[in-house]
Formats: sequence, C-alpha cells, structure tokens
Amino acid sequence: MSKNKQKRILTGDRPTGKLHLGHYVGSLQNRVKLQHEYDTFLIIADVQALTTNFEKPEKLSENVRQVARDYLAVGIDPEETTILVQSLVPEIAELTVFYSMIVTVNQLQRNPTIKSESAQYGYDEMTYGFLGYPVSQAADITFCKADLVPVGEDQLPHIEQTRRIVRKFNNLYDKVFPEPEALVGDFPRLVGLDGKSKMSKSLDNAIYLNDSEEEVKNKVQDAVTDPARIRIDDPGHPEVCTVFEYHKAFNKDGVKEIEGNCRQGKIGCVACKRKLTGAINNLLAPIREKRVEYINNPSLVDEVLIDGTRKAREVARETLNEVREAMKLNYFPE
Ligand code: TRP
Repeated sequence: MSKNKQKRILTGDRPTGKLHLGHYVGSLQNRVKLQHEYDTFLIIADVQALTTNFEKPEKLSENVRQVARDYLAVGIDPEETTILVQSLVPEIAELTVFYSMIVTVNQLQRNPTIKSESAQYGYDEMTYGFLGYPVSQAADITFCKADLVPVGEDQLPHIEQTRRIVRKFNNLYDKVFPEPEALVGDFPRLVGLDGKSKMSKSLDNAIYLNDSEEEVKNKVQDAVTDPARIRIDDPGHPEVCTVFEYHKAFNKDGVKEIEGNCRQGKIGCVACKRKLTGAINNLLAPIREKRVEYINNPSLVDEVLIDGTRKAREVARETLNEVREAMKLNYFPE
C-alpha cells in the first residue's frame, strides 16, 4: 500500500451470488480506479446477506468466495485494497449494538430502500435484522472511519442513515468519526435486460461478470429494444432502448455512430446487438481470464480474505477503543 493515502474508502456487497454488469458500472469500476488514491476497504457483508438468506446459510461459504473472485478478477488489487469478511470482525457487531441506541425505528421504517426491498421480497412482516441492516451497514462504514463510500444509487438512503448516526454519535459523545460521503458511478442504475427496472439477480435480468461469450450473446439477443421498430429501416428511438443504454455504458467509442444510424433506420437491431455483444465480451475477456487463475488456485483467494480480515480487525479494535472511551465505557483502562 502506498504511504500517502490519507483518506479511506469503505464499500462492499452482500454475498448473495455472482456480481453483474450493474455492479460493474455502478461501483466496481470506481473501486478499481480509486484504490490507488484511497486506503480502500472492501467488505463482503455476509451478516447482511443473512437478512434474506437466514434459511439457507450454507450457501454463504461459496458465495463469499464467489464475490471475492469477482473482485480480484475485475482488478481489485489486494496490495491496495483490504478485503474482509463481515462476520469475522465482531467489532462491527458491537458497534451495531451501540448505534442501535441512537437510531429510531421510525427512521428505519421510512428508508426507501428497505421499503422497496421488503415489497420486492413480499414481506408482510420484517425481521428485526432486516429492518436494522442499515444500522449494521453504518457500522461497516465507520469501523474504519471511512470518508468515501462508492455505491449504486439504491444505497444512498443507507449512506444518509450512516451520516445521521455519525452526527448524533459525535454530538453526544465525542468527535470520533468523519461524515462519510457517497459516490455513485457513471451508471448508478443500469437497466435490466427486460428494460423494466434495474439489473438485479433477484429479477433475473442480469448479465454476470462470469457469463461466457455465448451467454452474453444469447442474453443480448433477447434484450428488449424499441418496440416501435418493426422493419429494419424504421427510424429508432434510442432513448427508450435497453440495448442503447448498454452501448452508452459499454461501447463509449461507438455509441455516437450507433445513435445516428439507429435514428435514421440505417442499422437494424440485430446488427446493433451484435456490436454490443462484441463490446461486452471485450470488456469481460480479461476478467474471465483472471478469474481462471483464482479458480485454479482457491487457496490464493482464501489467503486474501484471511489477511484482509486480520488487518481490518486491527483497525476495528482501535476504533472500538476510541468508541468506548468516548462513551465512557472504558471502565478498566490499562
Ligand atoms: N447494502 C449493500 C448492497 O446491498 C452491501 C453493503 C454492506 C455495503 N455493507 C456495506 C455497501 C457498506 C457499502 C458500504 O449492495
């Protein structure tokens, strides 16, 4: 790690499966870029994944490794970034308990992401852990005193909640934490292949970072386009076309030409999709190649996680000492 990194990043994901292109343009790309400027922590939030997967925790062990491989494959460098497993840093759980005293249930119930996720999962009752996961996320972000949190747009309410907790904590006790800022990527909410909402695993409308060339081709072929285009020379409306959205994200050099040709009916959807498939596969080719190294060498991935978690714990312990001191809970100082 270079010595001159003054500021910290913390961000992460729930290990619910493989990461997709929405994660990539929403925040992974930013993380890869910023890891050289910031002291970066990347959390694999397995406890948070339990909020919706408590009935099948046995999947987590593979999912944690899957996410770690995706990180390493896209270019997260373990020399620059500390990758940690949430449940192995108990200080985060302690911090969550302290924060839970200064957060109201009403605030959590108003959180728009909690509301939309709970509707999506069809919950008519929420567990305490699900309702409270933004509090645990605040502990994720602050155990290392993060200044910046690169995330997708749906996470903004959680960062706002974290800022509220930090302000309240600092006012009540002592100024221990910086107020973290969110940073959303170039495409904070990438549409899904169905054109309807955001790309998401649970909506089954995603292209995954580990999809094969063939899978990418088939998925792009089936992607929703401008419904007004029936014949090849009908003028198109890129502003309503999912494939055009993807050209903007993954084919920056070709997107202007595609737009002009589409509007004038000079390129058909089949050809346009073929170009997109090429662009996405170009992006994914080196990622696929790198992933193979880690698949062939699983102990490498485990080592990164063990080392990262150890380092994170040291940082967390220091923070918790300060927290106890600020809260006057350091009954027996050495
Ligand atoms: N809630 C995030 C998601 O669903 C994952 C996450 C957990 C996270 N802890 C975090 C993101 C801390 C940023 C910072 O994608």
